[in-house]
Amino acid sequence: MSNNIDNLLHEERRFPPSAEFTAQAVGQASLYADSKKDRLGFWDKQAKELLHWHKPFTRVLDWSDAPVAKWFDDGELNVAYNCLDRHVLEGRGDRVAIYGEGEPGDQRVYTYSELTAEVKRVANVFLSLGVNAGDRIAIYMPMIPEAVITMLASARIGAVHTVVFGGFSADSLRSRIDDAEAKLVVTADGGWRKGKVFPLKPTVDAALEANGGGSSVTNVLVVKRGENEVAWTEGRDLWWDDAKAGVDAEHVAQGFPAEHPLFILYTSGTTGKPKGILHTTGGYLTQAAFTHKNIFDLHADSDVYWCTADVGWITGHSYVVYGPLANGATQVVYEGTPDAPHPGRWWEIIEKYKVSILYTAPTAIRSFMKLGREIPGKFDLSSIRVLGSVGEPINPEAWIWYHDIIGGGKAPIVDTWWQTETGGIMIAALPGVTTLKPGSAQVPIPGVVIDIVDEQGVPQDKNSGGLLVISEPWPAMLRGIWGDPVRFQETYWDKFGDKYFAGDGARYDRDGDIWLLGRVDDVMNVSGHRLSTAEIESALVGNNIVAEAAVVGAADETTGQAVVAFVILKKSHVDDQTPEEASALLRKHVSDQIGAIARPSKVYIVEELPKTRSGKIMRRLLQDVAEGREIGDTTTLTDTGVLSIISAQVH
Ligand code: WT7
Repeated sequence: MSNNIDNLLHEERRFPPSAEFTAQAVGQASLYADSKKDRLGFWDKQAKELLHWHKPFTRVLDWSDAPVAKWFDDGELNVAYNCLDRHVLEGRGDRVAIYGEGEPGDQRVYTYSELTAEVKRVANVFLSLGVNAGDRIAIYMPMIPEAVITMLASARIGAVHTVVFGGFSADSLRSRIDDAEAKLVVTADGGWRKGKVFPLKPTVDAALEANGGGSSVTNVLVVKRGENEVAWTEGRDLWWDDAKAGVDAEHVAQGFPAEHPLFILYTSGTTGKPKGILHTTGGYLTQAAFTHKNIFDLHADSDVYWCTADVGWITGHSYVVYGPLANGATQVVYEGTPDAPHPGRWWEIIEKYKVSILYTAPTAIRSFMKLGREIPGKFDLSSIRVLGSVGEPINPEAWIWYHDIIGGGKAPIVDTWWQTETGGIMIAALPGVTTLKPGSAQVPIPGVVIDIVDEQGVPQDKNSGGLLVISEPWPAMLRGIWGDPVRFQETYWDKFGDKYFAGDGARYDRDGDIWLLGRVDDVMNVSGHRLSTAEIESALVGNNIVAEAAVVGAADETTGQAVVAFVILKKSHVDDQTPEEASALLRKHVSDQIGAIARPSKVYIVEELPKTRSGKIMRRLLQDVAEGREIGDTTTLTDTGVLSIISAQVH
């Protein structure tokens, strides 16, 4: 990506909003002016307009305990009440909240009234199991309505959820359960993926049996979805339907302080151990609702919105659950993969529900491009009026395809930059205001202050680049790393003091628009998901046959980056198998240890790794090798011969 930046900055195509779109747009240019005039006053107004407060707040921001911010902290609210009850009480109970589309084509529709009733019951189930405000609930589920219901029921009673993506291994699940000290796990027997049921409950069982059993978990609540056989631990395991049948239907939502925790979401960092990113309620919900409404131009009474992300990622938290439901939107929740049972599945869903706002990732767009425009061409996509992109930079070629083939040449595309840590969108166009540039995320949203600085922290000007920082606290910002305040300080704040270091390189073009250039740390971005080189290396050296391992993210046409590993085998194990066998075995090993998303696309068995005199592996050079590029500066390398040997093995 960064190699192409000079070309990108010469991207000359411009897409101004149509007068027609601007006239009806929710987010108008005045938002920028208002937020510049009085930033805190702007957020004060948003929080009051967008949310219901059980107890109104009088303070907007308290930054005295920096870098832990407090927003609206003397106010009280209930997140689930905001996403459910108030819509019903204000007469929107019959509006569809969720069109749940199963992969096999089964459909379950929930109105706001029905969703509220479900969440009340499940909240009572949690309470009956002794889960109270502040307790943690681990969620390991397919993308079915019950996943959303579980998150909201947790929020409703003031519990703290930690959703673990269903593609993570038993080990990854266990380490998150342990770190969060979860009392309850909510899962399903299985879910549908690529035409088959993939089991989830067995992974939960394996996770809870690991490390000699004994964990913080007292119960496992199981939704029946896959109808697959599951093992049962009496006294610990409960079926969702049975548990719900035994509780009261009514539950009154109480207000919790605005800084009450809402969820922990684990994400990869530069070390082997994932970070538990902590988010709270008042500020988070304000920014999720504000961005969802304005960036996607949501007209809640007529739009059908669809965000294709899984609730296992932050996008699913903020733009499947909290933002859309706080805004009373109607949305599609789809369980399966884009290509099951046929490659036009997504376009069929858009036609079926008349989806008008679609939010997805560049990697998906690029894989559809490869399949050809004939496939979407068979469906009626004329309902689409706004498109969103997230997870990695969208290359202009994919942007144009998305715009022309999916957006009918007229739907604006909002490229949204943000992170698990930021909680909500931070950089994006406003579709009724901004003239769009394919490939650029463009401008900070109203009320957010971003700079691009050099290594010394000096802000850069138009036409120059550096490191992306967030210069002022924002409502949805993380409030810390669960249980690790030192790591929180070191990771984000030590570099520039009072400015949040995002870990991304960025550049201004001559108009001052922002172009993202990818991570500047040892974090890879594969299909819009963050993976840590250190975590995969540590999984590899954990295998008995491995002596040393180095992992890099190599440019990949579809997934943005791909995981490529270079491995030295232990002398005692070199002859146990062919290099091809070792490579296959190690790819599977990483998948078993961390999860299928971390499986390397290639594992090269090599005899040496390029190191500096101080013994540090030079990943940058390995990246050159993996990408088939001319090898860069090798002056600090101990032995330059090693690289030609590695290159010869690879190519
Ligand atoms: C990293 C955050 C935000 C939800 C999905 C990923 C990259 C994200 C963009 C974008 C360029 C992007 C950054 C960021 N990223 N969106 N629109 N343009 N890069 O969340 O797993 O926390 O990863 O994803 O590198 O730091 P995440």
